[in-house]
Amino acid sequence: MLTKKMEEAINEQIKWEFYSSYLYLSMSAYFQGLGLPGFATWMEAQYQEEVFHAMKMFKYVNDQGGRVKLQAIDQPEQEWKSPLDCMEFSLNHERLVTKRINDLASLAQEEKDHATFIFLQWFISEQVEEEDTFGDVVSKLKLVGDGGGLFMLDRDLGTRVFTPPTKA
Ligand code: FEO
Repeated sequence: MLTKKMEEAINEQIKWEFYSSYLYLSMSAYFQGLGLPGFATWMEAQYQEEVFHAMKMFKYVNDQGGRVKLQAIDQPEQEWKSPLDCMEFSLNHERLVTKRINDLASLAQEEKDHATFIFLQWFISEQVEEEDTFGDVVSKLKLVGDGGGLFMLDRDLGTRVFTPPTKA
């Protein structure tokens, strides 16, 4: 069973995960507009991953007898100065999400909610991966610059497919 405080905090995070999905879908549209379909596909896969995160929390609240209350999602940014600017923006966004997940885990400890604390371990590990994945694209973008390497990177990123983790 979830305490009221814990339930509200997870509901808030569900909103953040859906906001993240919305943001990455907006980035996918941005890259499509730039003529970089590989980046667009990569961001679309990330959008699906964020929906998966949101739904994992959605199911958890239900399983714990809590009540999911969906909240309004803010309009995401739509324009960036460059592909690098966009990817750096997303890396900073992921760092913010990491902080939020860590705060949730701290709250679970304060509330002596061991089940939620264990549930959040998956997200804590996931955020390490998320920051690494985004950081990797940022590094590659810095290396290739704006020249022909950008199109090779685009081809590379276009192979990404989102596969839901089987044991999640
Ligand atoms: Fe749901 Fe990218 O963190």
